[in-house]
Amino acid sequence: MAKLWGGRFNKNTNELVDAFNASIKFDKRLYHEDIRGSIAHANMLARTGIIPEADGKKIVQGLEQILADIKAGKFEFEVSLEDIHMNIEARLTAAIGSAGARLHTARSRNDQVALDMHMYMKREVTEIGELLLAFEQALLTVAKQNEKTLMPGYTHLQRAQPITFAHHMLAYFNMLQRDFRRLQGVWIGADLMPLGAGAIAGTTFPIDRFQVAGELNFSEVYGNSMDAVSDRDYILEFLSFASILMMHMSRLSEEICLWSSTEFGFVELDDAFATGSSMMPQKKNPDISELVRGKTGRVYGHLQAMLVTLKGLPLTYNKDLQEDKEGFFDTIDTIKFSLAVYRDMLLTMKVNKERMAKAVHQDFSNATDLADYLVRKGLPFRQAHEVVGKCVAYAIAQEKFLPEISLPEYKEFSQLFEQDLLEALKPENCVAARTSYGGPAFGENAKQIVKGENLLQMQQQILVALNSKI
Ligand code: ARG
Repeated sequence: MAKLWGGRFNKNTNELVDAFNASIKFDKRLYHEDIRGSIAHANMLARTGIIPEADGKKIVQGLEQILADIKAGKFEFEVSLEDIHMNIEARLTAAIGSAGARLHTARSRNDQVALDMHMYMKREVTEIGELLLAFEQALLTVAKQNEKTLMPGYTHLQRAQPITFAHHMLAYFNMLQRDFRRLQGVWIGADLMPLGAGAIAGTTFPIDRFQVAGELNFSEVYGNSMDAVSDRDYILEFLSFASILMMHMSRLSEEICLWSSTEFGFVELDDAFATGSSMMPQKKNPDISELVRGKTGRVYGHLQAMLVTLKGLPLTYNKDLQEDKEGFFDTIDTIKFSLAVYRDMLLTMKVNKERMAKAVHQDFSNATDLADYLVRKGLPFRQAHEVVGKCVAYAIAQEKFLPEISLPEYKEFSQLFEQDLLEALKPENCVAARTSYGGPAFGENAKQIVKGENLLQMQQQILVALNSKI
């Protein structure tokens, strides 16, 4: 098909160039935004008298028909028409004639594609927000089911101090809270209307950019036409948000891989959320967690690629910017899929409370509590640390754990030890005593769960508000 920009050319484009240059195979997913944006532009052109009222009407009707055709699968996208913008415009003009040819007045594909991407981003933010919320809800549910589930907490992947599984889940819940906040930041970056910037320097026509912004529910309009067509910060912000989210999910994935190993045996994935081996009949593999961990690298790659693409670009539009799409779209698909599958995997995962309890009763994660015990009896902490360190070394040599050492043996290390030390060593008491704000004590976590539920309600309201502005 003839190029919409063909006027100054005397030859057809080389076929390879057509194929190389075209973005239609991936930017066709912007069709809805492209059409909505064009309708708002046409309405504005008609209302400001830049094009005849009747042409405006024809354009809108024509575009609505194209939208219906695309939805019904009755639209053939053509590579020779390069991108979604020209595919739709060519079809419009073919359908309604000269009125269609007026649509691109006071507009360039540079501001048009920027508009589409902003609108697309806003819609995705709300959809991703819902999935994020559902995932947070799942973490909170698992936390609630495990308020009393004792387990060892780790530093350096060595047993550190007793905690509860609820406390561990709430740590991830808190990370996801921050992800939600970052997502709100992504929205702010996307909620800026670029149309009317033209190719670079606005237009000579008396357009009304605020009218377009109003019709499309944008809060603000870009105040500089060059910035409007060059800005990809909102994509970087999204990819940063996505990278951090994936990093959180990847860390959880790593833990689930460890926990579901025979060595830990802390959790068992539901059969519907694990996979087998083609050779080893006994295998039950945590593929979902491994894939999320693996896909994290891919999302980081998209962020890195975008940063590198942008760093050397002179203002304003350069075709390099077309490279903003595939990584962006892939990131959207990756995080949505990951969030959805992870939520259900978590909710169906069996938490092996007995195994966790057994682990925490057979380790030295109560050693700090023994030192704290001595501190309460008056010993400075540094000395208490030293004494208990010696007790631990003694116990290891005896192949025992701390509760199995007798009081007379303890007295050899410090006269401050009394029979009540056994109480201090019980993991449930170690947890119960950690009442510092944000600590794992049962009551503290219960409060954090209530707070979490309130936060989720607030997030739900935020999403309702954002949904009304897409
Ligand atoms: N397909 C292009 C993109 O995604 C649209 C803008 C093209 N603008 C241009 N001046 N060639 O960036």
